[in-house]
Amino acid sequence: MKKTHVGFLGLGAGLPPKVLTNFDLEKIVDTSDEWIRTRTGIRERRIAEPGVAASDLGVEAAREALQKSGLKPTELDLIIVATVTPDMSFPSTGCMVQKKIGATCPAFDLSAACSGFVFALSVAEAYIQSGFYKYILVVGSEITSSFVNWKDRSTCVLFGDGAGAAIVGPTLEGHQILATHIGSDGNYSDILKVPAGGSALPVNEKNIAEGLQFLKMEGAEVFKLAVRTMEEAIHRVCELAHIRTEQIDCLIPHQANLRILNAVAERVKIPNEKVFVNVDRYGNMSAASTVVALYEADKFRMIKKGQNVILVAFGGGLTWGSCAIRW
Ligand code: UT7
Repeated sequence: MKKTHVGFLGLGAGLPPKVLTNFDLEKIVDTSDEWIRTRTGIRERRIAEPGVAASDLGVEAAREALQKSGLKPTELDLIIVATVTPDMSFPSTGCMVQKKIGATCPAFDLSAACSGFVFALSVAEAYIQSGFYKYILVVGSEITSSFVNWKDRSTCVLFGDGAGAAIVGPTLEGHQILATHIGSDGNYSDILKVPAGGSALPVNEKNIAEGLQFLKMEGAEVFKLAVRTMEEAIHRVCELAHIRTEQIDCLIPHQANLRILNAVAERVKIPNEKVFVNVDRYGNMSAASTVVALYEADKFRMIKKGQNVILVAFGGGLTWGSCAIRW
């Protein structure tokens, strides 16, 4: 049986207009623009206004992606929203997006932290490949400012809010997803997490008093694992796609820290010019990072028809994922 080609029919982004610079952060915590820039590469990030939820940014991104694809919301077969900052525990943010854009298809959320978009993409690809669904809206949306402790300088400078969306569907030969790869290792679940707010530690006065509703991260450990894991994920997806790393035209990694991106590029022997970077403008947007990076790489013509593009992500869980695309 001939394999269906699955690819991107439209991309969109939803970025809050409010910019929080490193200089703004200097006024909130004991930090400096110099420290943040040299240790992370971040200069500024976007922060959503109070009352703006993950579904709101996701809807903005979804509308742009739909418009570019030429599809109507009612033509969608499925909506998957990758997020760890859902509007609420339930109903899902997917259901909120479905209602707000006027779609009628099934919708659900997927939780894989910063790797969420790549995980959701692999689910969408499999559904389309199997012939079960045709057009799938995949959203990565996060209000990371909702779990950031603005008194903890070691984490609050790293994150930003934002959303990206992709319409994934059958494509003609030429542009297509060549391979996807995902992985998890729950043995490292403690090094990056938001402890309270779920069933293990519900939000109550005691947990709030201990600040357990905020993100906790063992930065140095996460850094090392991110570099090693993303390197392996790139090699794995290249093997699956039958391309050599020298044939990668553009690497689009999860945007957590410029030093991580440089270290991964060096290990895989990809020149920095071939690595897409926007962490300087948005910080780490968790599940939204890779899709917004893909959106901008396309918008700024950094990726062109026929090129080999690799998405690679890493996040809490641990989770990791990679996707090889012939653009
Ligand atoms: O989305 C996937 C998950 N996230 C990541 O991939 C992030 C991975 N980790 C990292 O990016 C880095 O580990 C960080 C950026 C979080 C930290 O960088 P680092 O080079 O590992 O710094 P450090 O944690 O070892 O801290 C070095 C020093 C410490 O001071 P002392 O103990 O040496 O006196 C910190 O207290 O820097 C201090 N520090 C700060 N100073 C000014 C930590 N945060 C700040 C800050 N401003 N914001």
